[in-house]
Amino acid sequence: MHRPTDSDRGAGDSPRDNGVRLERMGDVGLILVDHPPVNALSQAVRKALIAALAGVVADTSLHAAVIACEGRTFIAGADIREFDRTPAGGQAEVTTQDLVRALDACPKPVVAAIHGTALGGGFEVALACHSRIIAPDGFVGLPEVRIGIVPGAGGTQRLPRLVGPLIALEMITSGRHVPADEAMSLGLVDEVATDLRRAAADRARYLAAAGHLPRVADRAVPAYDQPAFEAAVAAVRRRARGAIAPVRAAEAIEAALRLPLAEGMAFEATINHALRPGPQSRALRHLFHAERMAARMPAGASPWPLRRVGVVGGGTMGSGIAVALADAGLEVTLVEQDAQAEAAAKARVRAVHDRQLRSGRLAPQAHAERVGRIVYRHDLKALHDADLVIEAVIEDVAVKQAVFRALSGIVRRDAVLASNTSYLDIDLLADEVDAPERVIGTHFFSPAHVMRLLELVRTRRVLPEALATGLALARRLRKVAVVAGVCDGFIGNRIFYRWRMQCEYALEDGALPAEVDAALEAYGFAMGPFAVLDMAGLDVDWMMRKRRAPTRDPRERYSPVYDWICERGRFGQKTGVGFYIHQDGKRLPSPEVEALILRAAAERGITRRAVPAEEIQQRVHATMVNEGARILTDGIAARPSDIDVVLVHGYGYPAWRGGPMHEADEIGLDVVLQRVETMHAENGFGWEPAPLLREMAAAGRRFRELNG
Ligand code: NAI
Repeated sequence: MHRPTDSDRGAGDSPRDNGVRLERMGDVGLILVDHPPVNALSQAVRKALIAALAGVVADTSLHAAVIACEGRTFIAGADIREFDRTPAGGQAEVTTQDLVRALDACPKPVVAAIHGTALGGGFEVALACHSRIIAPDGFVGLPEVRIGIVPGAGGTQRLPRLVGPLIALEMITSGRHVPADEAMSLGLVDEVATDLRRAAADRARYLAAAGHLPRVADRAVPAYDQPAFEAAVAAVRRRARGAIAPVRAAEAIEAALRLPLAEGMAFEATINHALRPGPQSRALRHLFHAERMAARMPAGASPWPLRRVGVVGGGTMGSGIAVALADAGLEVTLVEQDAQAEAAAKARVRAVHDRQLRSGRLAPQAHAERVGRIVYRHDLKALHDADLVIEAVIEDVAVKQAVFRALSGIVRRDAVLASNTSYLDIDLLADEVDAPERVIGTHFFSPAHVMRLLELVRTRRVLPEALATGLALARRLRKVAVVAGVCDGFIGNRIFYRWRMQCEYALEDGALPAEVDAALEAYGFAMGPFAVLDMAGLDVDWMMRKRRAPTRDPRERYSPVYDWICERGRFGQKTGVGFYIHQDGKRLPSPEVEALILRAAAERGITRRAVPAEEIQQRVHATMVNEGARILTDGIAARPSDIDVVLVHGYGYPAWRGGPMHEADEIGLDVVLQRVETMHAENGFGWEPAPLLREMAAAGRRFRELNG
């Protein structure tokens, strides 16, 4: 281990030691972390930081220190690759706790100079410094719950002491990144500065001169509203829906309110060590990697520049898409079919923006900018200079083809043309245009400005650059992108259609909509499928069902309940009735729907029985995996982990389970295959096990072997 000495720090000499070097700014030691790409707090960096700190303490000509980072960010967290190694405790292991303790014991003031993101262990280091200064575009946060753990180096103990337990609870259990201005107003940092290092050195010097060593560790928890805190903890428990980390993080924060710091840190560390190797952390780390893998650019392809974007159709989806685009700073032209529809679309978009303003999520200035970025027209010619056009008209192939034909004569030949279709064959739309190789699918999820998933559909002739432009768009919108091939429903809706069938079968077999929804909510879904369908509107999928009816194989079990409900004009929340009766924001059971279910069962000669929640959960999961395996064989998804990303971010599959394919690996493919075989025996034609699932189960393999 190299330790900086006085001679190391000669003029122009910058000793580099495991990603950390010590320079000087006059009488202030500048401890610089330089460990690309994100200055992750690896074992080597932790050791080197402690050594650098010791160097500052030993050097009598240095009176204080600044910790800053090179590259694009402050320490953005722990090195996630170290998680799968043996946990802390080995002889040579230096933990972030050791580093934080070294900061606590440091007799000279240390100031953190934060740019980019100070996250997880990075923010814990900053919290142990005597002061924190942040660049105007910086962020801080403790996002550990997002990878299924709690902070491990005092974050849950220091944050309540610094800003009170309510803010600490919200930040730690959501894991959100807090921007600089908010960090300043909450008291998470002491100053926002453009000339970051200089401001940090000035503050360090000031503290040294004043003989101040203000430590968060020495503070008492500020006065807080006890009942409000208890209610917030109860809400965290309620919303967790099976996720352990937020619940345990709340327990650690509660401990901070009654224990001295050292004991609280020991309690926090116990939780952290218990969660690290656990299944939820494994699942969430799998998703973390899966999201990054899914969004990778095609090799050698660069996206085309994007500034002006057109949206055709301003209904439910088009209006949400326009909001998402404008919020990301793009110039949007929304085209409707006539003046009346144009006004209606404008009203829909304005309603969303006005809600953002009223809720305080948007400042008046930002609101005005976003509203001003969208213009409304009812003539496609307005899109002549667009770089990208997203079509979101009704789900009717002839209507969409006409739009694409017209666009082809209006837009530049290198403008990307995209469709938001849920199920239709986008190659048929590409056939209508000049230069079909610039046509892609951009399948947003409802509400488009909220849901994080964007399925990008790769058409048959697509240029890698057009697809890369779609991926760049997703990045710009801060969405999670997954590339899918063309088929009826792409990845998500193709799988959704199948598992919904199992839920419809469960109704005939003996369950009621509320029981199916409750079973899946208990599994961790935010909402059960029938509640979701009622919310989205049953008419949307009814069109798809009618379109498919002529080609449906008569040997396949088909439940008519959905169609019967729609035939009665019950389209869900928008009509007040669907699978449920919707009254005063509540979902009530519908006797009429129950009668339809009983009739369907009777007509098919089914003796209704109690269907246990576990059976519903297993049938749904096994269906997802079986259809997922077919999708892989058909080349619709590039890898199993892409399917996991789609189900989690588009359909509410519990993230802490890692997605259905990851979960299948955890359960064992032989067990999943057995469940599929049982479903096949019960439901017959169309429910055969996928050949890929059979092969992999027989060979004792795991889906994760196909990722990468
Ligand atoms: P919608 O019926 O709410 O909106 C369609 C809009 O397109 C209407 O405002 C209509 O006036 C307009 N329109 C029709 N023909 C037009 C034309 N020739 N030129 C300009 N505007 C025209 O439908 P929604 O739900 O927004 O769906 C749009 C597309 O998005 C469909 O392809 C649908 O399958 C897809 N989608 C829908 C989702 C949902 O949850 N509703 C989710 C994901 C995709």
